[in-house]
Amino acid sequence: MFRHLRQDIRSIIERDPAARNGWEVLTCYPGLQAIVMHRAAHWCWTHGLKWLGRFLSYLTRWLTAIEIHPGAVIGRRVFIDHGFGVVIGETAVVGDDCTIYQGVTLGGTSLHSGTKRHPTLERGVIVGAGAKILGAFTVGEYAKVGSNAVVVKPVPAGATAVGNPAHIVRKDQQAGTASRLFAAYGVTTTGDDPLSKALHSLIAHAEAQEQQIERITAALKAAGLPCQDLQPCAKVDTAELNKLVE
Ligand SMILES: CC(C)(COP(=O)(O)OP(=O)(O)OC[C@H]1O[C@@H](n2cnc3c(N)ncnc32)[C@H](O)[C@@H]1OP(=O)(O)O)[C@@H](O)C(=O)NCCC(=O)NCCS
Repeated sequence: MFRHLRQDIRSIIERDPAARNGWEVLTCYPGLQAIVMHRAAHWCWTHGLKWLGRFLSYLTRWLTAIEIHPGAVIGRRVFIDHGFGVVIGETAVVGDDCTIYQGVTLGGTSLHSGTKRHPTLERGVIVGAGAKILGAFTVGEYAKVGSNAVVVKPVPAGATAVGNPAHIVRKDQQAGTASRLFAAYGVTTTGDDPLSKALHSLIAHAEAQEQQIERITAALKAAGLPCQDLQPCAKVDTAELNKLVE
């Protein structure tokens, strides 16, 4: 039990830049407290003490604002960050190393008791704040679900799903490699802003075009063709522009 707790605390410190030390994580992280209490509730639920399991789950919700049904299966090093308003249904499965932000629902869409009604998150899935994943399907390993997405269909491993209803915006070829780095807040590990990347490539393109035009003008002049209308214009200061959009 203490080994699991130590692992949980270490994984939170690794994944949350705001976490300062183990004591702070143990005492001030409702996500960790909810997971620890869920382990006891799940033990009760699976050992014939169903009411006690439900009661511990209710107590956990009261203390942490995180509701995990005692029947849900939660893996190792699962990090529920902030956690307020998280609801995890009875037949949900959350794989090892998943990260779940506040306001997430792993919910069901069927009323058939005794059947699998809630989603399965495979290892390393990141679910953004406010996302709802509804139904008995699988979100593949290391997939990312954008904040406020409403996911009603399976998500392939390594993919990023956003929107309502959610659609896939990115499919990562590296999915499944255990060596993948955790992407805090679900954003790319390089930390590159997509807009800044686009601007850098536009600047590089403008520079290449400028050089090409210079070569064409030189070739036209060398061939004795009149180029008096092609007045030289101010050069693109690529170094300065790249600095501005960093
Ligand atoms: C979805 C997410 C994982 C994508 O991150 P990413 O891999 O870096 O992808 P990008 O930011 O390049 O976005 C890809 C596309 O999805 C769109 N997108 C990103 N997040 C979105 C969201 N939550 N809802 C709708 N569209 C979204 C982007 O606008 C972009 O669209 P485009 O290709 O048409 O321009 C990330 O935006 C996200 O929502 N993370 C969760 C963060 C969170 O909940 N933090 C809680 C902190 S307390």
